Amino acid sequence: MYRTKIKELLSSPPNSQHVTVMGWVRTVRNNQFISINDGSTIENIQAVVALNSLEESVLKRITTGACISVSGELIASPAKGQTVELKVTELLILGDSDPEKYPLQPKKHSLEFLREIAHLRSRTSTFGAVMRVRNAMAFAVHKFFNDRGFVYVHTPIITGSDAEGAGEMFRVTNLNAKNPPLDEQGNVNFKEDFFGRETNLTVSGQLEGETYALALGEIYTFGPTFRAENSNTTRHLAEFWMIEPEMAFYDLNDNMKLATDLLHYLVRYALANCKEDLAFLDKRAEEEEATKPQDKRNELGLIERLKFVTENDFERLSYTEAVEILRNSTPNKKKKFQYLIDKWGDDLQSEHERFLVEKHFKKPVILYNYPKEIKSFYMRQNEDGKTVAAMDVLFPGIGEIIGGSQREERYENIVSRVKELNLPEKDLWWYLELRKYGSAPHSGFGLGFERLILFVTGMTNIRDVIPFPRFPGNAEF
Ligand code: 4AD
Ligand code: MG
Repeated sequence: MYRTKIKELLSSPPNSQHVTVMGWVRTVRNNQFISINDGSTIENIQAVVALNSLEESVLKRITTGACISVSGELIASPAKGQTVELKVTELLILGDSDPEKYPLQPKKHSLEFLREIAHLRSRTSTFGAVMRVRNAMAFAVHKFFNDRGFVYVHTPIITGSDAEGAGEMFRVTNLNAKNPPLDEQGNVNFKEDFFGRETNLTVSGQLEGETYALALGEIYTFGPTFRAENSNTTRHLAEFWMIEPEMAFYDLNDNMKLATDLLHYLVRYALANCKEDLAFLDKRAEEEEATKPQDKRNELGLIERLKFVTENDFERLSYTEAVEILRNSTPNKKKKFQYLIDKWGDDLQSEHERFLVEKHFKKPVILYNYPKEIKSFYMRQNEDGKTVAAMDVLFPGIGEIIGGSQREERYENIVSRVKELNLPEKDLWWYLELRKYGSAPHSGFGLGFERLILFVTGMTNIRDVIPFPRFPGNAEF
């Protein structure tokens, strides 16, 4: 089966050359003009059938959603808005689609409705655009790191350790749920489970990544991670993809620099390589903005926002400075925040992060040196005894897009923190040993891939930037 992709045809000079297109019918007009999309580009090609050249029985089957193969001559189009069209000499129906039943009609559907038909929403212009941008971003991630000599390490999906120490893990077991083996105390005996111990889906590849950074120097992981947190928000998924670089001989400053460079690079890559899809998404976002009240609208359009990010350095400030700003902010004084910032040590919620980025600084922000109580056990303890060398990158419309830190490389310090927090020292034995044998200063961070895609596509719900979203109460498809 030989066919030419529409993307290629649309940029070919029309010389009446014979070509074949295969794709899905978007619309049909006057029994004559068929608009076809094959997913290679946001654009459709117009196939023109001579009137009365097709049997009535075939014509009837050319409906929105049907898959067809058309062959003919590529000619200059007399119609507006397209340079070429296909003058059809042969048409085959590859797959019928009952127009009475096909859920995707040629009209605007709500994203909520499309989520219920995630197996078909891939056929819409919006999801085609989002997923092509997602693909470009995945490629750009690998290119960025590969060009800098980072080694891509595949960390395990099934693991026995809780990397974040937050206990939000999905258990992996093949014990009989109805009648599990019990130990002498009457607890489930995981020694009899598949791995001879308790295991879970990974929440982060970081800890295993560190072992390779302390051998290969600069590494990164890019894979699925899982969190059983019951967050029904537009920014949380139970299964999401994370990019986690980990570097020996980087301090917190080096880490912040790499995070900035990576984000600049990725957004520039999208602007340079996803022009048509971004133009479509820009228009789409603009239409969505128009439905919001004036004061809730974005001041900048999507492409303007992307350019703005690439042209500006991110504001860096410490948690302590941020808390001062937030404490004295108007929404805090007027009790407009859902969680009021009262004192040093309070955890920051996404409303606070977004205030700093969208209202106060009006650009991306990196916060660093957080109170150790609100951050993970592995972060490097600062001299003040109160803070750790953590950093979060905050983006407009998103809040936290990156979380990272310099790691605690001193054996005594990390062991005492593990004990303080009552973490299972026996499961972390290998991680602690890294600090015993040839320890080195090192740092790393995690970039939430879907949060990046939200930012780049201007979509507003994280469930719409991953093909099949997983969230509480939903694992259809
Ligand atoms: O801040 P987090 O929890 O950091 C870590 O997991 C570290 N181990 C990373 C590291 O230092 N190697 O998660 C990192 C990022 C967040 O900033 C956010 O972008 C994303 O992962 N993220 C989520 N994205 C979607 N759904 C969720 N439930 C997410 N939780 C975190
Ligand atoms: Mg975080």
